[in-house]
Amino acid sequence: MKKNIPLVLLHAFPLSSAQWLPQKVGLEASGLTVYTPDQRGMGQGGEAPASYTLDQAAQDVAALMDQKGIDKIILGGLSMGGYVALRFAAQYPERLAGLILSNTKTAADTEEGKKAREALAKKVRAEGAKAAVEAFLPKLLGKKTQEEHPEIVGLVRALGESRSKEAVARALEAMAQRPDSAQALSQLTVPCLILVGQEDGITTVADAEMMAKKTQKSTLKILPGVGHLSNLEAPAAWNQEVLSFCQKI
Ligand code: MLT
Repeated sequence: MKKNIPLVLLHAFPLSSAQWLPQKVGLEASGLTVYTPDQRGMGQGGEAPASYTLDQAAQDVAALMDQKGIDKIILGGLSMGGYVALRFAAQYPERLAGLILSNTKTAADTEEGKKAREALAKKVRAEGAKAAVEAFLPKLLGKKTQEEHPEIVGLVRALGESRSKEAVARALEAMAQRPDSAQALSQLTVPCLILVGQEDGITTVADAEMMAKKTQKSTLKILPGVGHLSNLEAPAAWNQEVLSFCQKI
């Protein structure tokens, strides 16, 4: 560790900081200082406002830093957490010492994708968070994890189903409204670690390769036999890549 800059990890949809238990424990044992805030509407994150945006979620990270008196962080986000991390990079590049983009992408939703999210938000408001879990769960975990790790499947299901329906609907709408972040990423001058699961069906290896190509100082790592929630599916490999990245900063 050169400077021991704190690591902030932002969770995926519709999970919470509970997603990061293997990182909070493993990486702190290795000497890193790790914060895993809940985003609004998720875990203990408080309510999301009606017109919640991922730019606001990024502003919440800056507010947390101010509250703790932290000037710079290494920011990591997985999937929706990565979308938020990219919105942070767009608004506060000077507060980043490094960026970790795991299983995520810079592109905004297509028109078709937006319509699908809006339809799902409507369904969730009518039927509850379970509707989103049913729609996402098959895509969130790789084949091997689905077959061999019922405890991970159960954790993801329980976290998703415990969300309020309004919080899930607002997060879906916030993701649908997010802008493209390619420019913010290409302008970034700090080191960037890009992680992806080889079996990720939501944000693919091609998405990760494209980000790596457009980033000035990038390292791309493809995790074999792993799907979208790579930090839960392969915690040891994920932690190893992140630790060696953070130790160089
Ligand atoms: C996530 O894992 O955070 C979501 O699947 C991201 C998305 O739906 O685009």
